[in-house]
Amino acid sequence: MPNTYAITGITGKVGGAVARTLLSSGQHVRAVVRDVGKARPWADRGCELAVADIEDAGALTGAFSDVAGVFVLPPPNFDPEPGFWEAKALVSAVRQALEAASPPKVVFLSSIGAQAAESNLLTQRKLMEEALLLLPLPVTFLRPAWFMDNLSWDVPAARDRGVMPSFLQPLEKAVPMVATADVGRVAAELLLQDWNGKRVVELEGPERVSPNRIAAELSKALQRPVRAEAVPRESWAALFRAQGMRDPAPRIRMLDGFNEGWIRFEGAAPVVKGRVGLAEVVRKLVA
Ligand SMILES: NC(=O)c1ccc[n+]([C@@H]2O[C@H](COP(=O)([O-])OP(=O)(O)OC[C@H]3O[C@@H](n4cnc5c(N)ncnc54)[C@H](OP(=O)(O)O)[C@@H]3O)[C@@H](O)[C@H]2O)c1
Repeated sequence: MPNTYAITGITGKVGGAVARTLLSSGQHVRAVVRDVGKARPWADRGCELAVADIEDAGALTGAFSDVAGVFVLPPPNFDPEPGFWEAKALVSAVRQALEAASPPKVVFLSSIGAQAAESNLLTQRKLMEEALLLLPLPVTFLRPAWFMDNLSWDVPAARDRGVMPSFLQPLEKAVPMVATADVGRVAAELLLQDWNGKRVVELEGPERVSPNRIAAELSKALQRPVRAEAVPRESWAALFRAQGMRDPAPRIRMLDGFNEGWIRFEGAAPVVKGRVGLAEVVRKLVA
């Protein structure tokens, strides 16, 4: 169908928000999933289904063919192998599939800081941006800020112990953040636009927020005192290894990048502002 959009990551937060926005504006959605069982709610809403692992170029080619546009969401990988070979395999599969299917437009979910020169976790997104730049297709690189929804990891400790451990430091420094609901909505709106060539769209929420402010918001929502607590930098490697990570270095360098300021918006164009504020995200996460 001419107004069908292929959406990867649809069973996750951002992809789900992209699909909801498209469906509510009367578009057709092809849900690209790796597990048909998980796609049932989308089939029930009238979506077509295409089964494809994001690393399977052949299956992705079918999933990306005969559509009005494609949304590419690379799955998160916090513990990449040295040399980023998984990311390179993913890049290769997505690039091949887009080249073969040649959809009229693509929105790629990248990240704030994908342009950073220094190697870190977000180098995975830089590699994809570099590959997609070479495709003869209109591509939007959507670079959202830190997701407010990452806070879901902090809710249990805040609820049980009144503490929110923070890797973002110093605790009073406001950081650009955005709700995944805004990321998905804006990605869908971008997909519905027409543009030529490549463009970068950077996105943050209505206001920047510090860890101290987040703790105050958690405190309000949980109706108990909650304080932010800086996790000492020298303990990060051991902590991440204890949590099962093989190589904490890329994640640590990413966190350093936020704290030292070299992971930031490129700022070539004005940063787009979302609508969903911290209080709304926190309220939903603690509900
Ligand atoms: N967290 C942040 O602060 C932040 C900031 C900027 C950008 N980002 C970017 O946001 C993205 C994460 O978005 P999200 O929070 O919406 O993710 P999410 O909720 O964790 O969802 C991940 C999605 O990817 C799918 N997926 C995982 N492995 C797959 C595979 N091998 N093949 C096909 N699909 C696969 C999952 O499907 P299943 O249901 O089958 O698992 C799910 O639909 C990442 O690309 C990250 O770089 C994150």
